[in-house]
Amino acid sequence: MKRGFRAAAAAAFSAVAAVAVRDLLQRDHALLRNFPVIGHGRYAIEAIGPELRQYVVAGNNEERPFTRDQRRWVYASAKKENNYFGFGTDNDLEYTAGYPIIKHRTFGRAVPPSTPAAGYEAAVPCAKVLGAARGRARAFRPESVVNISGMSFGSLSGAAVEALNRGAALAGCLQNTGEGGLSPHHRHGGELVFQIGTAYFGCRDDRGRFDLHRLKDLVAGAPVRALEIKLSQGAKPGLGGLLPAAKVSAEIAATRGITPGVDCVSPSRHAEFSDTDSLLDWVEMLAAETGLPVGIKSAVGDMGFWDELTTRMAGTGRGVDFVTIDGGEGGTGAAPLIFTDTVSLPFQVGFARVYRMFAERNLHEGVVFAGAGKLGLPDNAVVAFALGCDIVNVAREAMLAIGCIQAQKCHTDACPTGVATQNRWLSRGLDPTLKSVRAANYVKTLRRDLLKVAEACGVEHPGLIDTASVEILDGRTAATALDQVYDYRPGWGLPSAADRAAIAALMSAGEPQGGTAPPSPSAVGRSATR
Ligand SMILES: Cc1cc2nc3c(=O)[nH]c(=O)nc-3n(C[C@H](O)[C@H](O)[C@H](O)COP(=O)(O)O)c2cc1C
Ligand code: SF4
Repeated sequence: MKRGFRAAAAAAFSAVAAVAVRDLLQRDHALLRNFPVIGHGRYAIEAIGPELRQYVVAGNNEERPFTRDQRRWVYASAKKENNYFGFGTDNDLEYTAGYPIIKHRTFGRAVPPSTPAAGYEAAVPCAKVLGAARGRARAFRPESVVNISGMSFGSLSGAAVEALNRGAALAGCLQNTGEGGLSPHHRHGGELVFQIGTAYFGCRDDRGRFDLHRLKDLVAGAPVRALEIKLSQGAKPGLGGLLPAAKVSAEIAATRGITPGVDCVSPSRHAEFSDTDSLLDWVEMLAAETGLPVGIKSAVGDMGFWDELTTRMAGTGRGVDFVTIDGGEGGTGAAPLIFTDTVSLPFQVGFARVYRMFAERNLHEGVVFAGAGKLGLPDNAVVAFALGCDIVNVAREAMLAIGCIQAQKCHTDACPTGVATQNRWLSRGLDPTLKSVRAANYVKTLRRDLLKVAEACGVEHPGLIDTASVEILDGRTAATALDQVYDYRPGWGLPSAADRAAIAALMSAGEPQGGTAPPSPSAVGRSATR
């Protein structure tokens, strides 16, 4: 027994001595040369720091991109568990400048039902018909105001794409393919918006040039309802991208139309157009050839582009059917820190500037506005609708719903939950069928919450929430109305009168859910004498 212990101690001592010698001889880390062996403690703590902070140290509202409260709300909603919070808010609303306050109405046209489950299965379609204003052959009313934002197969695993696609089918919403082409994982019943990025993945020829015939074949063979031209994305605007050779599997190569096992580069600019004039020509060509509504996705930086675009739309009659604005706070699989942190405006500021340009030229009612950038949280989404969004797209919140734990390792191919990796072992842990239900539950819950807030504000649909229903706190003693904050004129942020009437009629057509008991006889008598 004693001899065994001595042998173990000697082995341990030798191992420590070997580490100490290696530390003293290496030159890469000054810390280890100066503090052999114990210096490793610092690296160990650095490695587990994020997990320590996430689970032990950080408060409920401290972490970013998503706080623990926000993640808990998404997880509980995705599992259809109790997503209520007890004892009142733990947000510091009295002292947080920029905090949005939604103003309920005491007597409104619409009344929120009182049972928590009410509205869960309610259809909440878009208040505008996509492509109708420009007479596109395949114009349609998107069934859901909440849709799944573009995330390509490549940045996400095949299992994650499949889970989101099946989830989209269950929730009756659209899934945007992202710029990585349309893969077999996108073909599980969910309807699609096909995104055309700078590399024209999925619709390119062998030399990487855009190929209209391939695009037409692609959209004819899949449930594609609209085309989105990606100009930029909030987390890395103005940058292209690179999928490293190790990640370019045979399946990804076939989906994108590239060579397997070779670095896959997305250029930072499109080759098919070079200014707003040629962009609008291209939009019109795509719409005429496919019949589909065509839109653009962009982050917001210099406003010259939007000024020219809206001026040309107003002057020439050519135009985009939808505009997706991505906030600088948006996500990505991988990007340089300076771009994720500082390049392009945050959603509210950027969206309001763009919307104003469309509204000043009277184009706003004929364009569907989509927004992205943490809009999968009800409070952010409500402000987006008040500012004029017709649809919100959700990316990372949908990832959370299918199991992402915000480990923020998406750029390493080592995603522990199988969501953002091409590693077969890791992605096999994600069961697409089970997680599809979670994705659908989350989308339905967000829609229900938006509907409830709309009804609390006295209107039948989130798209009818106006800027007068939101104020932004300036601290403990002051608040500014949303229209003043963003310099909106009366009526801006709402669909046209005809669209408002149509969506109110659609929403009122269903069975009323929950609500009050019938009025007492005395109340009926009083109202009869009034
Ligand atoms: C893993 C990942 C991949 C993405 N890929 C794309 C893409 O291919 N095309 C695109 O336009 N946006 C892409 N995005 C951006 C999202 O579509 C979305 O605009 C952004 O994350 C903001 O939404 P969120 O805050 O709900 O995540 C990606 C985001 C993530 C997290
Ligand atoms: S678990 Fe981590 S690595 Fe995986 S998708 Fe979520 S944030 Fe990215």
